Amino acid sequence: MKFFVDTADVAAIKELNDLGMVDGVTTNPSLILKSGRDILEVTKEICDMVSGPVSAEVVATEAKDMITEGLKLAKIASNIAIKVPLTWDGLTACKAFASEGHMVNVTLCFSAAQAILAAKAGASFVSPFIGRLDDINLDGVELIDDIRTIYDNYDYKTEILAASIRNVNHITECAKIGADVITAPPAVIKAMANHVLTDKGLDQFLKDWAKTGQKIV
Ligand code: G3P
Repeated sequence: MKFFVDTADVAAIKELNDLGMVDGVTTNPSLILKSGRDILEVTKEICDMVSGPVSAEVVATEAKDMITEGLKLAKIASNIAIKVPLTWDGLTACKAFASEGHMVNVTLCFSAAQAILAAKAGASFVSPFIGRLDDINLDGVELIDDIRTIYDNYDYKTEILAASIRNVNHITECAKIGADVITAPPAVIKAMANHVLTDKGLDQFLKDWAKTGQKIV
């Protein structure tokens, strides 16, 4: 399973990238706002650091304007994945970008039916939002499972990029199901290292070590 980092925070991406944990990056207008950076500048900086796909999202709502914006974003670097919303205009733009060989990430996917359309429109990635479905008492992980089944039934090549990931459990569930990619905030990826029994075990080892009076170096 590939790990994308869901942030436009360059320092946070660098920390994970230096550990070899980053297969790509996803951004969106809210994350650009949070970064306080200019979209073109920060996206270029991320693309220079990370060799995998870097999603940059259009903000136009009509296909022809999405295409203009997307082509400008694609000029930032060769590893840009143009991100479009899962609307009819977004699918139209997706098809146009895919036909010209651009990577496209179709975002804001909340149903299996929408995911089928993204695959038909030639998306490289479809981004189902797990957390936001959970927020309204639906089962986000179940959607990933449904899309996996459907894509496998027809050998669709679009990669399932599980997004809106809020906790470690979301990531392990997606891995069990066979999501191709997860995109998660840096804090959630780092939280994967945590376990209460690891902390407890380490505490005991250190206490016992102190009693030996030894030093390794
Ligand atoms: O990848 C999509 C993500 O940024 C949305 O996450 O937590 O705002 O639903 P969230």
